[in-house]
Amino acid sequence: MLLHIPAVLDPAELTLCTQLLQDASWADGRITAGTQSAQVKNNQQLAVDNPAAATLGNLVLNALSKNAQFFTAALPKRIHPPLFNRYHGINNAFGNHVDNAIRASTDNAQYIRTDLSFTLFLSELDSYDGGELIIEDGYTGRAIKLPAGDLILYPSSSIHRVAPVTRGTRLACFSWLESMIRAPEHRDLLFNLDMSILTLRHQHGDNEATLRLTNCYHNLMRMWADV
Ligand code: NI
Repeated sequence: MLLHIPAVLDPAELTLCTQLLQDASWADGRITAGTQSAQVKNNQQLAVDNPAAATLGNLVLNALSKNAQFFTAALPKRIHPPLFNRYHGINNAFGNHVDNAIRASTDNAQYIRTDLSFTLFLSELDSYDGGELIIEDGYTGRAIKLPAGDLILYPSSSIHRVAPVTRGTRLACFSWLESMIRAPEHRDLLFNLDMSILTLRHQHGDNEATLRLTNCYHNLMRMWADV
């Protein structure tokens, strides 16, 4: 499932992000790349020991923790500390690659299985050309380019790339997470059930049927969740 989550950051948070990133010093993006992806990765990244990295990472994690749509879609168990990248000038693209299945979290050396990846777009759409995140879905690629503050959640198992930025600067935050629900089909089912229960409760209020559906939701969670 690809899920577009709008306005994860509010305008004030977005301004703070772009200000801190504007003043930051950037390192070669290959610092976190695996062997295969290092060959095609040509962007810049905020080093994890950069003073802005912790501030910005916490800002994003805090925003995600308040986002009900993100929670119900991802059912996150562990989120890798968010990273920040820049596509600009000659460092402007990232070719087809896979995300490593297991990543060591940079803050506490804990291992995370990457079930879902996310990109949080930080640059205004009219400030750059190109820079689409292209996610292969078997036959062709889905090109994704979202307004500043919006997030795309997508399967870490996909092959994906970032198209060359031909004008301006593309700033983004990205990371990976391990879900409490390992199987994508179980996660999709729970997400659709949860969204439908919300709609039914909104349309008809609480009743015996929504109570029983909610019970089904939680019992499926008990069956599948690994916490
Ligand atoms: Ni990737």
